Formats: sequence, C-alpha cells, structure tokens
Amino acid sequence: MTWYKRLAAETLAPLVDLDADSIEAQLVKPPKPEMGDVGFPCFSLAKSLKKAPPAIAADIAGKIEFPEGGVFSGALAAGPYVNFVLNTPYLAEKTAGLAIQNPESWGRALAGDGKTMVIEYSSPNIAKPLGVHHIRSTMLGAALARIYRARGWKVVEMNFLGDWGTTFGQLMVSYKQKERDNPDQPVDVHSLLQLYVQFHNDAESDASLAGEARNWFRKLEDGDPEATRLWKIFRDESVKDLQKLYTRMNVHFPEDAFKGEAFFTKRMDATIDRLREKNLLQESQGAQVVDLERFGMPPLLVFKSDGASLYATRDLASAEYRHDMYNFDKSLYIVANQQELHFRQVFKTLELMGYDWATRCEHVKFGMLAFGPGVFGETAATGATRKGRVIFLEDVLDRAVEKARELILENARSEEVTANIDALSEQVGVGAVVFSEFSQRRQKDVSFTWDKVLSLHGDSGPYLQYTHARLSSMLRKYGRALPSALPWERITHPVAKDIFVKLSEYQDALAAAERENEPSLVATYLLELAAVFNRIYTDKENFRFITDDEETTAARMGMVEAVRLTLAHGLEILGLAAPEAM
Ligand code: ARG
Repeated sequence: MTWYKRLAAETLAPLVDLDADSIEAQLVKPPKPEMGDVGFPCFSLAKSLKKAPPAIAADIAGKIEFPEGGVFSGALAAGPYVNFVLNTPYLAEKTAGLAIQNPESWGRALAGDGKTMVIEYSSPNIAKPLGVHHIRSTMLGAALARIYRARGWKVVEMNFLGDWGTTFGQLMVSYKQKERDNPDQPVDVHSLLQLYVQFHNDAESDASLAGEARNWFRKLEDGDPEATRLWKIFRDESVKDLQKLYTRMNVHFPEDAFKGEAFFTKRMDATIDRLREKNLLQESQGAQVVDLERFGMPPLLVFKSDGASLYATRDLASAEYRHDMYNFDKSLYIVANQQELHFRQVFKTLELMGYDWATRCEHVKFGMLAFGPGVFGETAATGATRKGRVIFLEDVLDRAVEKARELILENARSEEVTANIDALSEQVGVGAVVFSEFSQRRQKDVSFTWDKVLSLHGDSGPYLQYTHARLSSMLRKYGRALPSALPWERITHPVAKDIFVKLSEYQDALAAAERENEPSLVATYLLELAAVFNRIYTDKENFRFITDDEETTAARMGMVEAVRLTLAHGLEILGLAAPEAM
C-alpha cells in the first residue's frame, strides 16, 4: 500500500473535510481481501457530522465516482469503514507490468537521493578462524549495505578489524619458539590459533612469557622491523582467509575497506590532542578519562597510566576519519548488543568534542548467538579462545553444503541438477545458513542448533531458492519472450489480486527494512510472497498457467516472471543465490 493509498486519500479529501495527509495516516488494510483493499475508518467524523460511523461510511461510499479502468474499481461500506477496491488489471500493470518492462529498476528507489552512508560490519578480531557467531554482523551488515544501495544511497563499507593488541605479542613469542625448529613454518588462521593456545599453555608454567609478549607488542608499537614483519604476515593471512569465507557468503568488501585498529592507532594522537583542547580529559587512578557521570555513564578510558592505547580511543579516531573522508549522512556500526554502553560512551564523547555529526552515528545492535548443550561435542573444531568454546563458520558452511548435496541428489529430477551439483549444493547449503540470520528480528537472541541452521525445509532460504527455481523452470518450458503489453484482465483467479497486492508491497518492505535497519523484514516479505504464489500454484483444479489461449497464457507467465524477479532481487539483497533449477 503506497501510491494507491495516496490516491485513496486524495479521493476522500474533498468529501470529508480533512486533508489528504491526515487521511492517509488513518488508512488501514481491511482484514480480508473480499472486504476491499484500502480502508478508511469513519469514527473520527461521527462527532462533527452527528451521525453513526456506518451511516457515514455508506454515505461516502455512495458518493465516490470511479472512472472506468482507473486504479480503483469501486468502494464499499463495511461497517464503519469505507473500503476501496483495487482494479486488478490496473494493479497488475503497475506491479508485474513495470517489473517485467524494467527489471533493472524493480526494487530500486531514489529515496536515499545520493546521500552517503558509512557502514561498518563484520569487524572480527583476527589471527584465528572466523567463528560462527561472526556471521551475524557480517550478514546483517552486507544485507543493509545492499538495502541502502537499492534505496538510492551511496554506501561506503568498512571492516574495523581487531588487528592490534597484546595478542600479537603473544603470537610472536610462540612463533619465535617454533621458528628455531622450523624456520619456514607455514602460517594460516589455524596455525595462528595453535600458536595462541600454545602461548597460553606455556604461560601457565612459565611466568616470564607474559612479559616477553608485552615486550614484543611494545616493539611492534615502536615500529621494530621484525615485529612489524611478523604482524604483517599474521594480518595478511587472516585477511586472505576472511575474504575466502566472505566470498562464499556473497560478501564483497573492497580491498581498502579493511581499516582496523592498527590503522587508527596511528591516528590517535590528534584525537587525544583534540580531547585535551576541549578540556575533556581528566586524570583518574593514573589513567586519562572522559567523565560521563552526568550522562549516567561510567568514564570513557582514553589511555592508561602506561600510555597504552585503548579500544575506545581508536573508535574516536575512526569515527573522525569516517566523517572527514566521507562526510556521511549516516554512520552505522553493526555490532552486538554487548557493546551498547561502549558505543553510547563513544558517541557522547564525540558530541562533547563538538561534533554535530555525532547524532548521525548509530549502533545497530543485534542479539547473541547462544550455544546449547551438545553443540560442541559434535564438531571437530578445537575451539579458539583458550578453552575451545567456539564453532568455526567454515565448518558450519561445509556441513550445510554436505547436507544440501544429499537432499538435492535424493530429490533430483533432472540431468541439469545432477550435472551442476557442486555449485548448487554450495548455493543451497550456504543459503540455508545465511538465511537463518534473517529468520528473526536482529535484536532477538538466537540459540544455535545444528538442526535449525541446516534446515532446508519450512520457512527457510532453500525453500525460497526452490520456489525461484520452480518459477524459472515454468518460464523455460514456456520458452517465449513476453510481449511488453499483457492482457492482465485474463487473470481472474481471486488469488491473483493478492499476488499483485503483495508485489506492490515489495518497495514498502525495502523501505521498512531501511527505516528500521532490519533486513529480516525483507526475508518475511519474500516468504509471504512465495506463500501467496503457492496458493494459486497449488489450485490446479481452477487455475492453469498454460492455457489454449496464447494471450491468456502470456499474461499468466507475466505474473510468474514478476514473482520470480522479485524473489531473485530479494534473495540477492539477503546474500543468497537464486538457482535456475533445483
Ligand atoms: N573487533 C571487535 C570484537 O570482535 C568488534 C569491533 C566493533 N566495532 C567497533 N567500531 N568498535 O569484539
């Protein structure tokens, strides 16, 4: 309901002595399609007209005139509501017709009007394999970037890697120990994880190692060539591994998007100078802090007594950088709920520094991925952070792909499918995992279970992919190009109107996803679209797509193509492939 809602409001305005805006705000969708498509409640008029709302509704409905072939075919009074009835062929032309004639602009809007958004997402701490929980920020961010682009924004993506800190000193200690026996030891994310675990094992019995690690990190901070060389190797290997996984999930960060904590560490001095100039720094227990007590927050630590830099300071420097480089209209941080306080402190400090753009920064939070009992027992992953309570994302993707392969082969009906099984199982398996990110609102905590994340049934990504493949195959069988003008009046099945109404709501779903930074709204929309389409598809008794009449068939295939296009566009937004056959 958008453009035709406006028309309904404008039609009503001269009849009810209200302006179109306030009418539009009151419009509702009637509970059942047979009651009409856009409803206006008459309650608010009862007082001034001194009449009961149902009588008012009947009055108004009787007065409106509808030109032949317009967007509405009539209006009816349903209790206290005046309900407008959409003219199905007109609606079909304005939805399916437009989509087919101009697929490139279907799902696109100019709402953003070239405004710039910086979006930071994924941002893992590196030098270990990506854990499955990283999928949250990664997929939410990638989907939001695509949603904003589709809405006409200029989008700059950033990945604020955790690539600095004493951990790197620890890795260097273990690396150096090993280097004596094996000077050419290979480095990848798994061996880095081993070095990390090794360090913590050794440090339990050797108290001197902690100091040694701090020394290495100090050397790194001072630009020592050997420490820098090792750090570069560790970082490059990590980014290489990240890119490999991102590619599998249709996430494509430009090369220069990787601006991590190391990068901003080098820019912190200027930030600290500005904090000092603004008189914001205070000494507290040997550390320099920004006092935030009057805002109900603990102080923000800028640097510690030993001068060591801190996470928050790098975030201040990085926010300034984002603004100076891109002069953003909006700057989003896709980071877990747990860091809520951190971002409130950082944004408040930016405000105190006098930056009016601080209010344009937003922490887009999401819930936790919790691991139930038994989840770890099943995996080969040894686990990272010291104790092994982590599941590698790569393992999850691999298992999902394996399961998808079995399922697809079990049901394969065509040569096309079996010949393409490798690519297809990758698309479907990864699709299942990725889509599970969008099956609830982002703020909700989700519990990780293998069953759920590997699900290929029900309201899942593979179900949407399968629907897309089925529509593609119908169109392949039809095998003709669709004429640009289609006789939509040939589709009379009652569900057809529901399909066109659904299609008309795609833009609204994208707009809402943008407004609420909530890609799951696109997922919900796609499931609803697939469900309405299924209602006509399964009514084989009353509805055939291929008929004896060429024009009728063409109109019906036009509807199929419009639904397919919308599914394909939405799947792409969410980062899923849209297979042609499955
Ligand atoms: N690397 C951090 C972590 O893994 C997340 C970084 C979030 N982004 C930021 N600008 N602080 O916890």
